[in-house]
Amino acid sequence: MSGFTCATCAEKVSVDTFAPWRCPNENGDRHHVLLIDENDQHVVESHHNPFIAFRRNMMWWQFAQARGMSDERAIALVQSVDDEIAKIGGVGFMTTPMRYQSALSDHLSFDALGGVWVKDETHNVGGSQKARHLMSILLHLLVAEELGIAPWTDATERPTLAISSCGNAAIAASTLAAAAKWPIDVFIPEWAGGVVVETLTALGARINRCARQSQDPPGDPTVLRFREAVNKGSIPFSVQGPENALCLDGGRTIGWEMARQLAQENITALDAVFVQVGGGAFAASVSRGLSEAGMKAPLVAVQTEGCAPLSRAWNTAQSDAHPAQHWTKHMWAWENEPVSLADGILDDETYDWVADVAQIQRTKGKVVVASESHVVEASSIAPQTTSIDASPTGTAGVAGLFSIRAELSNTARVAVVLSGVRR
Ligand SMILES: Cc1ncc(COP(=O)(O)O)c(C=O)c1O
Ligand SMILES: [Zn+2]
Repeated sequence: MSGFTCATCAEKVSVDTFAPWRCPNENGDRHHVLLIDENDQHVVESHHNPFIAFRRNMMWWQFAQARGMSDERAIALVQSVDDEIAKIGGVGFMTTPMRYQSALSDHLSFDALGGVWVKDETHNVGGSQKARHLMSILLHLLVAEELGIAPWTDATERPTLAISSCGNAAIAASTLAAAAKWPIDVFIPEWAGGVVVETLTALGARINRCARQSQDPPGDPTVLRFREAVNKGSIPFSVQGPENALCLDGGRTIGWEMARQLAQENITALDAVFVQVGGGAFAASVSRGLSEAGMKAPLVAVQTEGCAPLSRAWNTAQSDAHPAQHWTKHMWAWENEPVSLADGILDDETYDWVADVAQIQRTKGKVVVASESHVVEASSIAPQTTSIDASPTGTAGVAGLFSIRAELSNTARVAVVLSGVRR
């Protein structure tokens, strides 16, 4: 039976396990991460909802099957979440568009044979890719509840969901929580405000502002408070693999969709896929999905000069046969105050660096640190040339493309993901 294997200590967790969030040997430092075992089968069915089309490849579905739920019932659960998203005024999960962008390709002086394909996540549930990571966790919970595997017996006793985030992830989590009528605590920085907080409030999330406290260890105070809530019994509804391995399950749907969409244009290989990296789950999942679907695409992980812990880790971890075992040698919090217009990728640690490094190695990719001027340029050129209203965080992958354009031939074929809407 397939399942997860800890990258740090090689512990195996089988797919029929309830709540396979963290490695059983993890002792509170989050320096273990359960990675999904490789499976050489990739099964696709025709459906607009990726959680139905690709379900057979997913851990939440395999958990449901292993514990005796029928396929029809598992599909019905996905559809019920979509129906509830519609009731709260949203649109459910759909295959998001991926198109060749001629104006952006021309701007970058690619020839007609080459150029830039853009995956548009701005109309995904909650306005970014984040809901994909969270949906696989929610489906696991709904399956467990319905089968009576979860420790609570009915919906009124559900433990609270918890997430730390200052933006898109909190909105995605609160959207799914509202759809599932599940209570949620969001842990946000004390300075957060504006549209994000208004949206969270409208979605009924409980907002916890987290100021740094004098006795706090180093690290993001929203993450510290989130972990305290999890220690007290909340469910880690997290977009960071070391907090909840199942977030890396649903994130793969982006890569699977991209591979399918490119195959429809008879493209079986790319010269690069550029993915902006904050916590790192996004890049790891997109790239893993592409690889699993048989699409050759070197992963170019993009960070900004104002916060680039993954670049540091990539430099040292490449030559380490067991990088996860030497976690703190490769990954530690960015010392300076992280700054960039792309403020959604300023995570001071790349929590999913182990999965990122694995995919960069596997695809023969690299890490690019974009200058702030390229981040700013990308934030205006990408929306102008594609008519996609993405935020500066959402266009940061394009900044990476600007940085290494000269290394690519004019016929190179590359992809980027515009990952979040401008708010
Ligand atoms: C729009 C957008 N793109 C990309 C990212 C980066 O994803 P990750 O944190 O998984 O690296 C984020 C994360 O906050 C985001 O909001
Ligand atoms: Zn472990």
